Amino acid sequence: MSGPRAKALVLFGITGDLAAKMLIPGLYRLVERGELKIPVVGVALTDWDTAQLHEHAREVISAQGDLDEAVFTRLKGLLRLVAGNYSDPDTFIRLAKEVGGLGFVTHYLAIPPSLFGTVADGLASVGLNENARLVVEKPFGRDLESARELDARLRVHFPEERLFRVDHFLGKEPVEDILVFRFANTLLEPIWNRTHVRSVQITMAEDFDVADRGSFYDAVGAIRDVVQNHLLQVLAYLTMDAPQTGDAQAALDEKVRVLRAVRAVDPDDVVRGQYEGYLGTPGVSADSTTETFVAMRAYIDNWRWADVPFSIRAGKCLPGTSLEIVAELRKPPRAIFHAKGARGSKPNLVRFRLQPQAGITFTLLAKEPGSSSLTREVPVSVDFSEVLGHLEAAYERILDDAIDGDPRHFARMDIVEQSWRIVGKILDRTDQPETYERGTFGPASADRLVPGHDWHDLEVFAEPGER
Ligand code: BG6
Repeated sequence: MSGPRAKALVLFGITGDLAAKMLIPGLYRLVERGELKIPVVGVALTDWDTAQLHEHAREVISAQGDLDEAVFTRLKGLLRLVAGNYSDPDTFIRLAKEVGGLGFVTHYLAIPPSLFGTVADGLASVGLNENARLVVEKPFGRDLESARELDARLRVHFPEERLFRVDHFLGKEPVEDILVFRFANTLLEPIWNRTHVRSVQITMAEDFDVADRGSFYDAVGAIRDVVQNHLLQVLAYLTMDAPQTGDAQAALDEKVRVLRAVRAVDPDDVVRGQYEGYLGTPGVSADSTTETFVAMRAYIDNWRWADVPFSIRAGKCLPGTSLEIVAELRKPPRAIFHAKGARGSKPNLVRFRLQPQAGITFTLLAKEPGSSSLTREVPVSVDFSEVLGHLEAAYERILDDAIDGDPRHFARMDIVEQSWRIVGKILDRTDQPETYERGTFGPASADRLVPGHDWHDLEVFAEPGER
């Protein structure tokens, strides 16, 4: 079920960081592809006028690559500014003059969550909540309770079907590819269960630190920043059953069904780390206990996945930047062939590389030349950008769907609630995380969270020939 296509887009926070890095360049690319033709009204507390907003747009688009003047002229023709304070009724009166008569409107809130309620009230004060959709950026709450409070506040003016919660990972082509790969093919599905899969590892590694986001990050930490939202969405795609139909709600129904089966993570199954030097970051409190790395083990208590450990780790200042899933299949019942250099056989691996270079690799075993009983691991790999060409950026798809009213790539409230429940017992720990050296995979104690105490090497760090 999709909502109406919007006749105008209102972008709160147009002068902010997210707009500069993601939203304005995303709008430009939609114009370039001929998919954005509706007015875009930016709202922000600023002394700029529309001409200055256009200049800013030119700068931020050029910063990311070549700017085509003809495309930019088309974008400029659509983009205007309403400057004003979000708590001033006049801002909304002027906004209503801009978009009031145009038909269905998408309001996109790229502003701090503490202002979501104020803006929703302001929109409602001039009737702009009717015939409109509200799209809000993450984070949606700090825990289950605050997420429910925020939801109740927004739902006064916008019902669930007109309230979209952004998780930009849902706009990433390679994330959605997991679902297509699983359900458009018949190769994987028969073995995608506890009978054949021994364990699954999900790693989101980033090689950079929190830089100038210290005050934001210190109040959040790795679990809230990327696990509760992005990585649990990835886990759901990886483990859900096939949707009953191609309808967006059917996919969301299956997603929430599997998340309901995920056991709340046990604090004993968690290792938290903090990179060396984090405490000296501007905006970070001197005795901060915020984690910049987390590793955890989760279980899904359902028929398909019972007792299969899902180990998830994420962190800043790790050796590289990559998002990779490695599923280890069970070994054959008897080792007739032995792996070269090892006793016994080795397991097959199924790897989904989600970024930076999306693709899939199956690690299989082939006969070692010249030997009749030894095997060697051989990767069977495909790189999606090589075979499929250019992939759209996440925010292009998010903006397009926000305008279009397709809820598929947004977080439905029941999914948000389940995600907060899953991490509920491991939030707000006051013990000090273990310190880890920059450029490592976090504290060594995280090794206890995977079978065999050994995380699989990530493919992103392999030489191209080794893939
Ligand atoms: C954001 C987090 O939601 O996701 C960041 O706040 C993180 O800390 C980012 O770096 C990762 O997203 P992407 O698309 O750059 O992989």
